[in-house]
Amino acid sequence: MTLEEFKKISQEEINKANEEITTVSDEQTLNNFKGRFLGKKSHLTDFYASMRDVVKEEKKDFGIALNDLRAKLQSLFDEKEAAFRQAKLNARLEKEKVDITLPGYNNTLGSKHPFYAVVDDVTDFFLGLGYTVADGPEVESDRNNFELMNIPKDHPARDMQDSFSINDNTILRSHTSSVQARVLAAAQGKGPIKVICPGKVYRRDNDATHSHQFGQIEGLVISEDATFANLLETLTLLLRHLFGEKREVRFRPSFFPFTEPSVEADISCFECNGKGCSLCKHTGWIEILGSGMVNPNVLRINGFDDKKYQGFAFGIGIDRVAMLKYGIDDIKRFYTNDVQFIDQFRKE
Ligand code: PHE
Repeated sequence: MTLEEFKKISQEEINKANEEITTVSDEQTLNNFKGRFLGKKSHLTDFYASMRDVVKEEKKDFGIALNDLRAKLQSLFDEKEAAFRQAKLNARLEKEKVDITLPGYNNTLGSKHPFYAVVDDVTDFFLGLGYTVADGPEVESDRNNFELMNIPKDHPARDMQDSFSINDNTILRSHTSSVQARVLAAAQGKGPIKVICPGKVYRRDNDATHSHQFGQIEGLVISEDATFANLLETLTLLLRHLFGEKREVRFRPSFFPFTEPSVEADISCFECNGKGCSLCKHTGWIEILGSGMVNPNVLRINGFDDKKYQGFAFGIGIDRVAMLKYGIDDIKRFYTNDVQFIDQFRKE
């Protein structure tokens, strides 16, 4: 083939390719185009093969013309390929378009419920004293709630708390003391034990400061030498932690079937500093929790040697502490989920 002939054929090839590229509509037809004009079986490949028959003097220019043809065919392909890539990208951008002028979601930050503010505060306090946190179910056996807490079936102490029965042997627990029975069982007669158990309890009760559901934090310490003095000191520290270092703490004799002796703790009124006001019902004191030395009977019936072990227990009302601390007027506010109420405890 002469250079002259090749230039003619070459131009025809380009015309054909120019025409054909307009019919390319997708990647499949673009690939066909590539095969036909640039592939192994294309005219271009044949042209390269025919180089060896070209006369010496024309070889160089033939080569230049051939490369020129290949470059033109290649650029037809490249342009089309780039156009497809761009179209694909445009389609994706269109599909994933975000309207940044739309109003966003309003993520308001929640606030800790005052009930849990008290739970967390008291828990932190006791973790610092080396206690661990124990847990028990709200649907509890009569045995754990009463019998193992030294309250047999006919005991009058049941009257105040025997409230929500599921069946003869199952109730909604009336106090977190039921977790004492569980912790003692798990310890299998071996001390020491130092736990607190926060949780919800249920009783038939209904006024501004009492409700059918409320929270308690139980404490239980069993060892060979835990004393009454330890109990008084622990609770004094707790109450000053909760209500301020200046609080006076007073212990009054009381009765609980599971502790002996039993005491109730009062704090000097933080509203009037003990002078007497409506908050402390003009007594100067606010009743705050029940406690005592674990009744040896409780140790025995829960598999502990009461000659070897002794200890103390206490139960503090979570809602009551929160009501006093934050000046909340009705215990029902804790569970009626009024956002305006809860919002007041937001920490800005
Ligand atoms: N369980 C008692 C109550 O609910 C509180 C308490 C716990 C008292 C532990 C003494 C010891 O009133």
